[in-house]
Amino acid sequence: MAAAVKTPISGAAASLFLILLFSVLSSAQSYFRGETTRRNLSVELNPGWPSPSSRPPNGELLHVRAVGDNDTLHFLFCSQGAPTLLLVHTNTSSSSLKVNWKEFVSRNVSGSLKVEPESSVLYSSATVFSRLLEYDDVNNTAEPTSDLFPPYELGSFLWSRLVLSGPSARLCGVAPDNATFANGSLCLQLSVFGEGGRAESWPRLLHTANSSQVEVWLDGVLPRATQSRFLLELQAVGGAYRPSRVEVQRSIDDEFTPSIFKVSRWLSSENGSSEILGFLQWKPVASRGRDSSVENATPCHHSAPRPQSSEDTARASGLVRAFYAEPQTVGLNVSFGLAGDPFYNSTRFLRWTVLIGSGSPPVESFSPLVLAIMAVGLGTPMILLVLGGVYVCIRKRVAVTAAAYQPIN
Ligand SMILES: *[C@@H]1O[C@H](CO)[C@@H](O)[C@H](O)[C@H]1NC(C)=O
Ligand SMILES: *[C@@H]1O[C@H](CO)[C@@H](O)[C@H](O)[C@H]1NC(C)=O
Ligand SMILES: *[C@@H]1O[C@H](CO)[C@@H](O)[C@H](O)[C@H]1NC(C)=O
Ligand SMILES: *[C@@H]1O[C@H](CO)[C@@H](O)[C@H](O)[C@H]1NC(C)=O
Ligand SMILES: *[C@@H]1O[C@H](CO)[C@@H](O)[C@H](O)[C@H]1NC(C)=O
Ligand SMILES: *[C@@H]1O[C@H](CO)[C@@H](O)[C@H](O)[C@H]1NC(C)=O
Ligand SMILES: *[C@@H]1O[C@H](CO)[C@@H](O)[C@H](O)[C@H]1NC(C)=O
Ligand SMILES: *[C@@H]1O[C@H](CO)[C@@H](O)[C@H](O)[C@H]1NC(C)=O
Ligand SMILES: *[C@@H]1O[C@H](CO)[C@@H](O)[C@H](O)[C@H]1NC(C)=O
Ligand SMILES: *[C@@H]1O[C@H](CO)[C@@H](O)[C@H](O)[C@H]1NC(C)=O
Ligand SMILES: *[C@@H]1O[C@H](CO)[C@@H](O)[C@H](O)[C@H]1NC(C)=O
Repeated sequence: MAAAVKTPISGAAASLFLILLFSVLSSAQSYFRGETTRRNLSVELNPGWPSPSSRPPNGELLHVRAVGDNDTLHFLFCSQGAPTLLLVHTNTSSSSLKVNWKEFVSRNVSGSLKVEPESSVLYSSATVFSRLLEYDDVNNTAEPTSDLFPPYELGSFLWSRLVLSGPSARLCGVAPDNATFANGSLCLQLSVFGEGGRAESWPRLLHTANSSQVEVWLDGVLPRATQSRFLLELQAVGGAYRPSRVEVQRSIDDEFTPSIFKVSRWLSSENGSSEILGFLQWKPVASRGRDSSVENATPCHHSAPRPQSSEDTARASGLVRAFYAEPQTVGLNVSFGLAGDPFYNSTRFLRWTVLIGSGSPPVESFSPLVLAIMAVGLGTPMILLVLGGVYVCIRKRVAVTAAAYQPIN
């Protein structure tokens, strides 16, 4: 009787202890994982542009300087042509940006944008949001092989001014032949972070002080077919002095995006080296609703990275032209929706988020909540098993003792 009462109480106490232990361990783990890196951010729009009252023709340039103890990350976001994010990592906290605006806006020579001293540059890479593709998914297979409409070249879009708020900036654009974009737009929002954390907005990507986040959304655009689906083409550009190898990996997760157990990563490293220099990382999921909730989630997948014509990329992106003498370009397509999923027309909205940074991408670990559930799930049966064993042993002993007395009676 006494043992039967005691078992659940000590079981509960032991699982509680395990929960606490796991929570403390996992908080300590995330604390020591390097999220202590901090950077001081400073934001400048069109740095060095001679007349502050006007803006440069054909697109603006945002410079976010993220200064660490002994290094600097320069984030450059530009709408001269296709929206482009250039990331330059230097080994000094005093590197600076120099723009020759006359050459920069003419977009026909390289070297008009420099990070100085040039010898301090450890790594650079650019991400070009090059094209938006649309296809008529007549058979609802989500295979963008045929029935493609003419692509929207983002390099020829009409882009709005950059709307700044702290270290983030929003850019919206419409196609020049604007019948389908009459009531809609394609927007990008860049956020740069001074320290590690998790984004407020779904899918709540984990970030560090070495990364930035770009959200891309397509809002209110008139699809060219009722069954239209979209793809976004991205180009990753590296310099000749740091050729980048690109690969895609997957890992396991998580509680913030239920049922999405993957993270896609597009990594750059030097030939033959395993050291990761930079990355693009995303959850293979997009949202079909303005209020990103789980019900609006739609899976996305990507094509294999393919080498691209560097001349085409440089022509599309003013920033790539200005910074790289010999760009090396690799591209891939991210496609939204699987066979059977609702089409774009159902909500006329699509939002996708990607993390872009230098060094290794942040890795999700199990959260305290998941660890606690695991502790309860695994710990409780263990404890019950042990206590049950003990209880059975005691019962046997008692029975044996009782049996030993019986013959006397
Ligand atoms: C950020 O980059 C710096 C310089 O490469 C590195 O020392 C630091 O560990 C990185 N921090 C994180 C959180 O990845
Ligand atoms: C950031 O700025 C603060 C205050 O100006 C300064 O104390 C700190 O050293 C700076 N940190 C870095 C990494 O530059
Ligand atoms: C930065 O450089 C100084 C002097 O070279 C060195 O003492 C310090 O440890 C370095 N800090 C980091 C975080 O690497
Ligand atoms: C760049 O364009 C400008 C004017 O648009 C022209 O004067 C100049 O010669 C061009 N440079 C090159 C290298 O094509
Ligand atoms: C930065 O890198 C350059 C070239 O690799 C090197 O000459 C310079 O000494 C480095 N500076 C620091 C502060 O490490
Ligand atoms: C759609 O299905 C029909 C009949 O199976 C086939 O003839 C047609 O080629 C398919 N269209 C596409 C775009 O796959
Ligand atoms: C299309 O764009 C042109 C030039 O930007 C503008 O004049 C025209 O009003 C636009 N049409 C619509 C329907 O938005
Ligand atoms: C844009 O919106 C206006 C008013 O809401 C509507 O009259 C017009 O038909 C819409 N155009 C397109 C192409 O959806
Ligand atoms: C899109 O959906 C609406 C209703 O949801 C429908 O009236 C319209 O015909 C559909 N087609 C296109 C091409 O937008
Ligand atoms: C890196 O590899 C690519 C293709 O494999 C090759 O074209 C390039 O020359 C290599 N670069 C170096 C520095 O070895
Ligand atoms: C993206 O898809 C389109 C259409 O299938 C194709 O023409 C283009 O080459 C693809 N881009 C990349 C980088 O694979």
